[in-house]
Amino acid sequence: MSPIRWLASLVCLAGASASLATAVAAASEPGVEGRRIVEVLRLAAGMVAADVGAGEGRFTSVLARGVGPEGRVYATEIAQDKLDAVKERMAADGIENVLTVLGDQQQTGLPRGCCDRVLLRLVYHHFAEPVAMQRSLWAALRPGGLIAVIDVPPKKGWPVVTGAPERGGHGIEVAELVADMRRAGFEVVAQHDDWPAETDSYCVVFRRPADRGSRLSATGSDAPSAIDSWPDSPSASESRPGSLSASDS
Ligand SMILES: C[S@@+](CC[C@H](N)C(=O)[O-])C[C@H]1O[C@@H](n2cnc3c(N)ncnc32)[C@H](O)[C@@H]1O
Repeated sequence: MSPIRWLASLVCLAGASASLATAVAAASEPGVEGRRIVEVLRLAAGMVAADVGAGEGRFTSVLARGVGPEGRVYATEIAQDKLDAVKERMAADGIENVLTVLGDQQQTGLPRGCCDRVLLRLVYHHFAEPVAMQRSLWAALRPGGLIAVIDVPPKKGWPVVTGAPERGGHGIEVAELVADMRRAGFEVVAQHDDWPAETDSYCVVFRRPADRGSRLSATGSDAPSAIDSWPDSPSASESRPGSLSASDS
């Protein structure tokens, strides 16, 4: 692993200060990986996407640019200080189509049926309640929508993720991830074993099938726990394809 990547991981994992994280992130802009994310998620102008567990928002801007000014992006987190850092980063980058959402370990906080695309980058293995999060992701994703899950096999040398299921290290085997997501009703679209995030990282793209319900019955509450208003306050009657009206949140 490159020193920059190692440092970025350490900052993310250890929850180090926002200023250090920002300095590291500035030194490791997500060029190559960002392009691959746009490609595998088939991002297009006007879509609505979510960066679930966005951290400091390093890849939120990738999604925001991928959907263009006509599209929208939700950045979710369980830590308000990270959402604050996302807002700062978006403002600094002049990005105006990102909305931050505070979730928890049971739900993303995303509005039901909001999203065409979801990114989970190095987040799934942090879920303390994966089944609850699968239900919530299912509810947030539109039928036919895609989720890209980027993760790593369990790493023994990385810090323990408090609260997450024990998997023999920090991360999750791709087979376990795929089994989990299939059990929830998602289908595999593609698996990329050469993903450039970390040593041995992979990306699996899943689809919420268009024509059947989740095997986990996604009936739980997805009332947003803390959701900001869009920076440009779209009206409730807005009808742009792939957009969310203010009344949905
Ligand atoms: C390793 S960081 C990855 C951050 C970002 N996705 C990236 O790739 O730069 C994992 C993040 O997941 C967040 N997280 C953990 N559990 C979560 C959950 N249930 N919902 C949303 N975010 C969560 C953590 O707060 C942390 O910021």
